Parts: sequence; C-alpha cells; structure tokens
Amino acid sequence: MTNTPKPLAVYIHVPFCKAKCTYCDFYSIIGRENSIPAYLQATLKEIRQAGKRHDLSNHYIDTIFFGGGTPNLLAPPHLELLLNRLLNLAPHADQMEIGMEVNPGEASLENLLAYRQLGINRISIGMQSFQPELLKFMSRIHTVEKSFSTYDDVRQAGFDNVSADLIFAIPGQSRDQWIGDLKHLVSMNPEHISTYSLTVEEGTALHRWVDAGHIKMLEETVDNGMYAWGREFLEAEGYPNYEISNHSRPGYQCRHNLNYWRGVEYLGFGPAAHSYFSHRRHWNIRNLDQYLRDMNATGSAIDESEQISRTMARNEMILTRLRLTEGLDLDEFSLEFDEDLLETKDDIFLKWADKIVVKNNHAMLSPQGWALTDEISSDLMSPE
Ligand SMILES: C[S@@+](CC[C@H](N)C(=O)[O-])C[C@H]1O[C@@H](n2cnc3c(N)ncnc32)[C@H](O)[C@@H]1O
Ligand code: SF4
Repeated sequence: MTNTPKPLAVYIHVPFCKAKCTYCDFYSIIGRENSIPAYLQATLKEIRQAGKRHDLSNHYIDTIFFGGGTPNLLAPPHLELLLNRLLNLAPHADQMEIGMEVNPGEASLENLLAYRQLGINRISIGMQSFQPELLKFMSRIHTVEKSFSTYDDVRQAGFDNVSADLIFAIPGQSRDQWIGDLKHLVSMNPEHISTYSLTVEEGTALHRWVDAGHIKMLEETVDNGMYAWGREFLEAEGYPNYEISNHSRPGYQCRHNLNYWRGVEYLGFGPAAHSYFSHRRHWNIRNLDQYLRDMNATGSAIDESEQISRTMARNEMILTRLRLTEGLDLDEFSLEFDEDLLETKDDIFLKWADKIVVKNNHAMLSPQGWALTDEISSDLMSPE
C-alpha cells in the first residue's frame, strides 16, 4: 500500500525587535541583534535535529513562514541558510508558499530584492494604522509614510502576493479613522488584508495601563461594530473574509495559515515556536538565552509537550474550522470522530439558529455569528 504524502507547514520564529509595542505579547526581545549569529546556529541545529526526531519520509513541505518578532532583522544570507537547511529536511511542493513578515521602514529595497531571489514569495507588512497618534500610542516606531514606501519597495522588488495588517478598536480611534484606514489600504490594492481587534494581553504595557485605569478600551459593542463594518466594506471591495480576521482577493488566501486552521501538521523552530506532529504538540522555551543553552547542550529546547487526545482533536477541529468561511465539514467530522454533530448538539444548533447555518453539509457562521465565534464554538465542544 502506498501512502499519499502529507503536507507540512514550517514556521520559523525570529524573536528580535527594534522596539516593543505596547500591546504585543508575542515572544520578542529588543537590543539583542548581536545574538543573531548564535540564534541562527541554534535554529539550524534544531532543524537538523527535527529531521532525526521525526519520520518525514511521508511528508512534503507545503508552506514556510518567517514570523516574529521581526524577520527582516535577518539579512538575506541568514534566511538563505535557514531555507537551505529546511529544503534538506523533507521534500517540498513544486510551488511552496514562502512568506515573511516585514515591519514598515525596516527592509531596504536591496534586501527585499534579495529575499525575492531566495524564493520568498509572500510578504506581510505590519502597517497597523495610518493615524500617526495611534501609531505613537501603540509605540510603533514607523511613520505612516514608511508603510507606503515599504509597500512600494515590496512591489518594486517583484512581490505579487502582498498582505497588510491593520489594527482596529484602538482607544481613541474613531469609526471615521478606521474607515479611512481601510479605504486607503484598499486603494493601494494589496492581495490580502488582515484586520485585528486590539486585544489586551497579560504582561504587556497596555495591560498595565488598562489595569491601572489610565486607559479605557472601547466598549465591546463598538469593537464589534467596527469589525462588522470593516468586514462588509472589504467584502464589497472584493476582499471577502475567508477567516474571521483575514480577507483576500480570490485565490490569495494565506496558504500557511489555512494549513494551521485545517489541521495540517506543522513544525516550528526558534524560541517559543510551537509544533504539532503525529498527534503531539510541543513548544519551545520562551527565552532566547535558555533556548541557546538548551540547543547547545542537548539539541532540543522543548519547554513542554502534550499528547492530543481524541476529545482535544475534536474540539480543535470545531474551534479552527468555524473561524473559516468554508466552515466545518460535517462529513469529515463524522468520519474522523464517528459523531453526527447535528444530532449530538441539536440543542446548540437551535440555540444559535440565526448565527450558525448548515449548507452543503458544512456548519458555518452567518455574518451575525462572526463576533460570537468563541461562544458558539465553546458550546459545541465536549469536556475532556
Ligand atoms: C506579532 S506581529 C509580528 C510581525 C511584525 N513584527 C509586526 O509588528 O507587524 C503579527 C501581527 O500581530 C499583531 N498583534 C500582536 N499583538 C496584538 C494584539 N494584542 N492585538 C491585536 N493585534 C496584535 C501585530 O500588530 C501584527 O500585525
Ligand atoms: S508587534 Fe511586531 S514589532 Fe511590535 S513588538 Fe510585536 S513583534 Fe515586535
């Protein structure tokens, strides 16, 4: 019997930043660029070790994503080393999606051209806002003009798959400002747009300000209203959302993120990176120095790992698929978990009748359901 090769998604976490944004809980550290060579050495070792630890003979790399932190702090030869090592890890798709995040004003045209030449074919630019005072509030170190010039440079370097991130529901942001940002971004014509509602994450400066009462976040109804307006606007402009926060021109959905949401296995490298492989999940230590020490000493920097039980897998499929407009394939669900969800959870489908619809045997959220994804998913989940 021959096995059909399975796709694999690869994530490289680049934990360096020039400044820490007030809201950001992603693992990143500032003023440590001098550790980039050590980081590279350790991450290259981690990739090689993964080839020994996991049987990848039946997998092919479908997507690679350099995220952060700030991947553009790696010079093209650094990325080349990492890419070459990854290509030795497993076979790969003929047309891989290789994406990277770029901060406005931080990548020269020369570097962008070199990234393109390395085969990187998707760039995501963290523009966040076109309002100078809101960028300042979030401690972003770029100007609005830098978002525009980096976008132009990315295009000039030959990238034809470009995404931009914008944040909404920022304290002090008016609905008109949010509309203005979206209109401006659409006029630039990127292939993909991500819109994130500003969330207060523990351990961030924003969390401390909110806790101390210095800053008041927007009311949930205002936040939901801004989300709904943005989603409808982008859909009318030819950017339907394929996931709660992600909107694209047809055919330009982010393959890498779709892989995560569709349950494709993934390997993550670098401090704090997560992996999901062979029904297990593990994540690396969230500390660069410890990561370097562990990698040097033992060739592994795993903080913790867990076996994904059947119930966990069931719940995760519900949670991730309901985030997608394509929804949860009820046939696939029943095949995998031997359960007819419409029958076992008929009360929940009734409770959320106008928020969750069933079409072509897929359960999907209606436009009114988007803001309630978490509540609806959790109702459909089972206790461990
Ligand atoms: C962690 S960043 C990494 C990429 C890059 N350094 C940047 O800042 O764009 C990825 C995206 O997550 C967003 N993000 C991080 N924390 C967030 C939060 N608390 N609320 C909303 N968006 C957030 C960022 O603004 C960015 O668009
Ligand atoms: S949002 Fe991006 S630039 Fe800001 S601290 Fe987080 S990873 Fe770094």
